[in-house]
Amino acid sequence: MNKYTYLYFESISSTNTFLKENYKDLDEFTIAYTYNQTNGRGRMGRVWNGGRDNIAFSILLKPKKKDIAILSLLAGLSVSCAIDRYINTSIKWPNDIIINDKKVCGILAESIISNKIDAYIVGIGINVNQMDFPSDIKDKATSIKLNVNKDINQKEVMEDVIKYFDDLYNRYLNDDYSFIEEIRKKNYLKDKTGIINNKKCKVIDIDNEGNLIVEDENKELIKVLSGEFSLQSFYKC
Ligand code: BTN
Repeated sequence: MNKYTYLYFESISSTNTFLKENYKDLDEFTIAYTYNQTNGRGRMGRVWNGGRDNIAFSILLKPKKKDIAILSLLAGLSVSCAIDRYINTSIKWPNDIIINDKKVCGILAESIISNKIDAYIVGIGINVNQMDFPSDIKDKATSIKLNVNKDINQKEVMEDVIKYFDDLYNRYLNDDYSFIEEIRKKNYLKDKTGIINNKKCKVIDIDNEGNLIVEDENKELIKVLSGEFSLQSFYKC
């Protein structure tokens, strides 16, 4: 675990952007973290800032293996296991972490492919102690504290995530993908209907490569490699 170097920022625009701009000079397993991210980036061009009550951090990886899709699933499982210590979570494929139908964590995995070093950045934003959310996201966002009614140490949550991440990442490097079974068990979307990549469908499962398997309206099975699933009913992410 000593291989991780933690860089704390009082305030920073985006921990992902910081690692992206400095990856050449930083060692693998550098973690940039802050409680005040001012211009954080989410998936699908969204904004993710977090704020003082929460935590935002990014891990720099330089693996020989080039499977960013699996890395981002693995990061989701690490967060889910770490938060399970406080309250049960599930995983909304690919890697949103859900408590009682609301999102508590978002993950943005990015890759830098150059001819010298390839780098991967896994950025994680966890709502830890936030008690109020703006009205536009109130019905779909939550925090750990909102569910357990006590203050949680933000840094401890991050360190727990890293413990799980370290174990899962080693398994991944050793071609042990058995953790996908653990993701399957936590599949928030199982049997739910909704829309992904403009197609109406029902979620069947997650396959051994981490793809989402859905059934379309003609009962045909489709393997989805990336995208975001919007539920048909009340919950939209
Ligand atoms: C999403 O759900 O859209 C993904 C959100 C990812 C946010 C994290 S916070 C730490 C890291 N730095 C960023 O700018 N984004 C990620």
